[in-house]
Amino acid sequence: MKTEDVSLSSGITKTENLPFVWMSQGHCPRGSKPRNTHYKMEKGIDKEYMADNLKENDIKLLIEKLAATHSLSLEEYRRLIEGPGKVQDREKFSVPEDNKTKNHPLSRPDDEAPRTIKTGKDRELSPVLAEKAVAVRKEIYGDTVFTRGLIEISNICKNDCYYCGIRKSNRNCDRYRLTEEQIISCADEGYELGFRTFVLQGGEDPYYTDEVLIRIIKSIKDHHPDCAVTLSMGERSYESYKALHEAGADRYLLRHETADKEHYQTLHPAEMSFDNRMRCLKELREIGYQVGCGFMVGSPGQTAEHLAKDLKFIEEFKPDMCGIGPFIPHKDTPFRDKPAGTLELTCYLLSIIRLIHPPVLLPATTALGTIHPLGREMGIQAGANVVMPNLSPVTVRNKYMLYDNKICTGEESAQCRGCLDSRMRSIGYRLVTDRGDVKNIGGKE
Ligand code: 5AD
Ligand code: FES
Repeated sequence: MKTEDVSLSSGITKTENLPFVWMSQGHCPRGSKPRNTHYKMEKGIDKEYMADNLKENDIKLLIEKLAATHSLSLEEYRRLIEGPGKVQDREKFSVPEDNKTKNHPLSRPDDEAPRTIKTGKDRELSPVLAEKAVAVRKEIYGDTVFTRGLIEISNICKNDCYYCGIRKSNRNCDRYRLTEEQIISCADEGYELGFRTFVLQGGEDPYYTDEVLIRIIKSIKDHHPDCAVTLSMGERSYESYKALHEAGADRYLLRHETADKEHYQTLHPAEMSFDNRMRCLKELREIGYQVGCGFMVGSPGQTAEHLAKDLKFIEEFKPDMCGIGPFIPHKDTPFRDKPAGTLELTCYLLSIIRLIHPPVLLPATTALGTIHPLGREMGIQAGANVVMPNLSPVTVRNKYMLYDNKICTGEESAQCRGCLDSRMRSIGYRLVTDRGDVKNIGGKE
């Protein structure tokens, strides 16, 4: 295969016949050439070469097994995540000056810190995985990409998650809250632009009582009965979720953030609990919502073991939607100095999630588009099938800053649906005007 000399970011190369498929420098994406061809076999068997090949074969077998059975053991998921290369050096864990984080588990001395995962620059088998994920996705959803109009209704939040730019302790955050009329007019505008799902996302803002939300949901449904309403408003009571569902909300997004209880506590203050997050997800399912969970890739302290648990959780919970994106530090949070998650590992995990639960609605997230200008295209090429452009009023767009440099204008906006469609067409997909419900094939239903 001839490779055009266009390096998109370290380890990513654009090829002529596979527009943005990424691969490690100098490695054949079909996996026909052995990796590390520089090894010399002068004195009989090179042990390092053998070990690498054994590991690579192991990973290939795991990919085959996952594609055939949609299930791996925790240990197998861990090996698949670590991949054939070396594990990266331990990250330096120290959470600065935030009082609440003294004695924080991430402040352990370096030698006690858990082993972290490699950056993913060396993921030779990503294309093998992506090819399988894309084939599975095409079988179910063809070449279509679903869109959702994202309305960020408030950046006021009673929570204080250590990673989040709109956490309540951030005094530099310029707070806003949309009125009912503003939200409804965003939906009306979105409808004209071709959106058939509206996602109302916001911090946990006490202003949005059930009464207020019910009015908004009913009004959107009255104006646009052919549309789906998705809520992403955090943790609420069973009664509240039920009332909102009865008012017409179809779907609910609530990322679990990490399936490891101890890790969860290191990302959140003591007032927040893993058990409550899990309670919410189970109740949402029970009530009849299409439910979305998800996590950040490369969140501080995340290990391959944690990610393996996330994958096992997804395998068992079978979410209708799953939002994953790289962690990106925000300058006004305790995690300001933590390294961001990588594009490569996020795409690798998107492919794995597609294979675990083929019908899942999997967005190529804004965070992915933020860490790389072609991040969302690469996400789609790894197996994602949803994009969620911003439909919020232009005046508030730069205020919903969950992380630094979040993209929110230009082609990211819902008004540029045409540009997004061209981007998708450039890689062989097309945006559709459709509610984009999950396809029920086999599984839990
Ligand atoms: N980087 C990436 N994603 C973030 N989120 C919050 N803060 C960040 C960050 N710094 C994600 C969380 C949350 C969702 C709304 O946004 O996963 O659930
Ligand atoms: Fe928890 Fe924003 S404060 S995700």
